[in-house]
Amino acid sequence: MMSDKMKQDPRLPDETFEPFEESRRIPLPVYWIAIALAIWGVIMLVETSHSTQVADKERAAQNAQDVTATAPVTAEPAAAQGHALFTANCATCHGDLGAGSTGAVPPLAKSDLVQAGGAEAVVRIALRGIDGPIAVNGVTYNGHMPNFASALDDKQLAAISSHVATSFAGAKDGIEPTKVAELRKADAGKDPWAGGAELASAITGLPAQPARPAPAPAMAATQSADVETLVKTGAGYIWACASCHGDKGQGMETTPRLAGLPAAYIAKQLHDFQQGTRFNDSMAYVAKALSEEQIQALAAHYAVMRAPSTARPSLKGDLARGEQIAREGDWSIGVPACFTCHGPSGFGVAPDFPALAAQHPAYTARQLAMWAGGSRHNSPLGLMAGIGKALNDVDRRAVADYLASLAPVPATPKTELAAIDASIPVSEGDAQ
Ligand code: HEC
Ligand code: HEC
Ligand code: HEC
Repeated sequence: MMSDKMKQDPRLPDETFEPFEESRRIPLPVYWIAIALAIWGVIMLVETSHSTQVADKERAAQNAQDVTATAPVTAEPAAAQGHALFTANCATCHGDLGAGSTGAVPPLAKSDLVQAGGAEAVVRIALRGIDGPIAVNGVTYNGHMPNFASALDDKQLAAISSHVATSFAGAKDGIEPTKVAELRKADAGKDPWAGGAELASAITGLPAQPARPAPAPAMAATQSADVETLVKTGAGYIWACASCHGDKGQGMETTPRLAGLPAAYIAKQLHDFQQGTRFNDSMAYVAKALSEEQIQALAAHYAVMRAPSTARPSLKGDLARGEQIAREGDWSIGVPACFTCHGPSGFGVAPDFPALAAQHPAYTARQLAMWAGGSRHNSPLGLMAGIGKALNDVDRRAVADYLASLAPVPATPKTELAAIDASIPVSEGDAQ
């Protein structure tokens, strides 16, 4: 029964079908075309791999030229090469002139540490990287510097370190590649320096260095104080938030504006300060004294607070360039538009993305520099670390100044109300 039905089905192959074309020869022109195609294919393969090789070679030559462009190998090779290599490898963080970045990356220019330790100290830091508190000219930094052991060979490291020690820190002598090779052997495979204290135990004569911080003793949380008291007058160990952040949460200079930041973002930052995953002496002290309840209450308090902008562009940044970075990004340096994450007007997107509009430019630029230097490393998935590094100092100032020129978060942005209480109905008109 079944087989009868199948035989009748016209969609099934007819078992009696005889392939009549089987014995027919393929016409000659088809052979020619096939052979021609095969030959063409082989030629193209060879061609492509050849031109890839040429392109690679050209690129390598170009890179080598970039680094040595200002370094004619004949006259004063080490000094000029040292300068070019410094610009290519160290300047994103330490600045073209080695000035560093306040609170984020220590200076090399007139660094007492480099003056005392000389080019050898620079080499040893570059070979292992450094990760821990270090004091330079009396200021403590707590960032992260990667190692350059595989990126730079002995000659290059000697050139950079001699340049840093002699031109920036006024040391008399540089260092020879043979000495660098010795140090490289001695330090091979070691962890990054755990800050200035370990460095001082290996190199004599360095200025006084802070010890690795012991985990801070948990302070008694000032449970009873209500938010109003915490904000305005402080309580127990807690200084009044307003004493630094302003009575309207408007902030100033390197103390951020808090008014209008998403509540969840504020709470996360307070947790990060508490746990030391975000580093700032004042805020660590304050946050460690807060209970979880107080953190949540303070976060909600500042999220709904509104204050006119007190920020003004002040870093001599190029506002047009800043606007370009914020709105469009710059793919030539791998930087996406800031507003793709931070909201179309820089008003932030709750819960994770803070508002940037009307933030103080010195604060914004400093945070970007801290991400570049690794002393702030708390963004989810490291999102901001790459961006901070990709922007140079001029771009950081440009975008910080542009953001400072924007209006602050408006009265009741949808995103924020949604985060505070999803049940509150929000009309389109409320968003502006
Ligand atoms: C990604 C950013 C970054 C780069 C790139 C970088 N550094 Fe650093 N550097 C730092 C940070 C941050 C510290 C402080 C580390 C700490 O707090 O533990 C530091 C510390 C130093 C110090 C000791 C402190 C001082 O200022 O005297 C020297 C010397 C130094 N770097 C030299 C260099 C040299 C040379 C290069 C290039 C080969 C370089 N750095 C590249 C971020 C960087
Ligand atoms: C002694 C001054 C001082 C006091 C008091 C203070 N802060 Fe801060 N706060 C700062 C500084 C400075 C920063 C920026 C830290 C940095 O550069 O990373 C900051 C950062 C913050 C941030 C991160 C904001 C952001 O945009 O990422 C939050 C949140 C915050 N403070 C909340 C508070 C609260 C809440 C209080 C009161 C309980 C308070 N602060 C008290 C100085 C202070
Ligand atoms: C891929 C998403 C993304 C992009 C693009 C992005 N950011 Fe961020 N940014 C974040 C996140 C997430 C945080 C919150 C980090 C945290 O939780 O500490 C943040 C935080 C910041 C902060 C800290 C704000 C504060 O109050 O402390 C600054 C400043 C900042 N970003 C600037 C920028 C700038 C400038 C650009 C554009 C050049 C940019 N961001 C692009 C995701 C992004």
